[in-house]
Amino acid sequence: MSDLKLLVLHGPNLNLLGQREPEIYGNLTLVDLDNLLVEKGKMMGVGVVCFQSNHEGNLVDKIHQALGNYQGIVINAGAYTHTSVAIRDALAGVNLPTVEVHLSNIYRREEFRHHSYIAPISVGQISGFGVDSYLLGLQALVNHLQK
Ligand code: DQA
Repeated sequence: MSDLKLLVLHGPNLNLLGQREPEIYGNLTLVDLDNLLVEKGKMMGVGVVCFQSNHEGNLVDKIHQALGNYQGIVINAGAYTHTSVAIRDALAGVNLPTVEVHLSNIYRREEFRHHSYIAPISVGQISGFGVDSYLLGLQALVNHLQK
C-alpha cells in the first residue's frame, strides 16, 4: 500500500443511482459504485474514501477538508458541474490534482450540460463511460500522481 489517499466526491442526485433515469445512469447503486472504487483502490495500493452530498456547501467543506488529508480528488459534481463557481473555487483553492468524471457523455446531451466550471481547473475529464468513467478517472489520477 502506498501512502496515497484519494477522495471521490459525488454531487447532487447521485444518491439515487440505480433508480434515477437508469437508461442514462445505469442500474448500479451508489453503494455498489463506492465498493468498486474502494476495491479498485486496494488493487492499486491506494486508499479511497467516497462522499456524496446534495448540498453545494457540504461539497465545498469536504474539498477544504481534503487539504492535508488526501493527495487528489475525483469528482462528479452532477448538476453543480454546470453551475457552481463555489465548487470550482474550492478545488482551485486547495490546488489538489482533480479529475472530473461523468457517467453520461455530457456533450451528447442538452446544451446546458456542455459547459463545465470544473474542467478548466482539472487535470482532465472522463465522460460517457458509466461507472467506468469513475474507475478510469481513479486510475488516471493515480498514474498522474505517481509520475
Ligand atoms: C452527470 C451529468 C450532469 O449533467 C447531471 O446533472 C448529473 C450527472 C453524469 O454523471 O453524467 O447529475 O454528472
